[in-house]
Amino acid sequence: NFRKKLIAGNWKMNKSGAEAADLVADLVAPLASQTEVDVLICPPFTALETVSRKLEGSSIKLGAQNMHAELSGAYTGEISAPMLRDLFVTYVILGHSERRQLFGETDAVVNTKVLAALKNELRPILCVGETLAEREAGDTLRVVQTQVEAGLAGVYAEHAASVTIAYEPVWAIGTGKVATAEQAQEVHAFIRSLLVTRFDDTIARKIRLLYGGSMKPANAPELLTQQDIDGGLIGGASLEARSFLELIEAAA
Ligand code: G3H
Repeated sequence: NFRKKLIAGNWKMNKSGAEAADLVADLVAPLASQTEVDVLICPPFTALETVSRKLEGSSIKLGAQNMHAELSGAYTGEISAPMLRDLFVTYVILGHSERRQLFGETDAVVNTKVLAALKNELRPILCVGETLAEREAGDTLRVVQTQVEAGLAGVYAEHAASVTIAYEPVWAIGTGKVATAEQAQEVHAFIRSLLVTRFDDTIARKIRLLYGGSMKPANAPELLTQQDIDGGLIGGASLEARSFLELIEAAA
């Protein structure tokens, strides 16, 4: 497995500027000489500038949690790719299940954002995953297939390796209910096969697939040793330095 693992912290709607600065300070020093794992943090928009300054000279990457597809204009309350680039943001989480469920983002909307991110040299993290009802109805793979194919519509092969896909079963997010390593690996392998069909084998092997949903230091080692699990998208456990650092260690 030649894909470098990626451990990404999604802070969601947490942390003031001061709290964000404290947390980053607690990450930068311990990770100063760490090169085995790619590390990404995604603070809320209001903390991006502060965190960006604190990350100067660090190998920790900066990401945003959402983005609008247009570059500028009359879109009250929205943030564009150039605005993120301006703050040295390099990744953007798109189509998180909370955006889909609570803010009505459809596959089509998510797709326009993925294309806009790539066009503006931001690396999209496309989130997909089934709800509990969908899993119980046996629809998991069908749902994931639709989200992956729709999310990647129109993506050129030469940009595909910049894409990361996060598989986050909705029933495992913030619930403490983690998917078993087998459940996660099954879906990851399926997503990889979709990428082979959509692009080709070489490209599919380059695309990182993250697992998200109650990933903690205790369950991470088993998940992260699965063949097609290339890292994690971490919510709760990314809000404290100790657990986030332990997750990075588990990925190394
Ligand atoms: O983006 C992160 C995921 O939604 C996982 O959140 O680790 O709190 O379950 P969680």
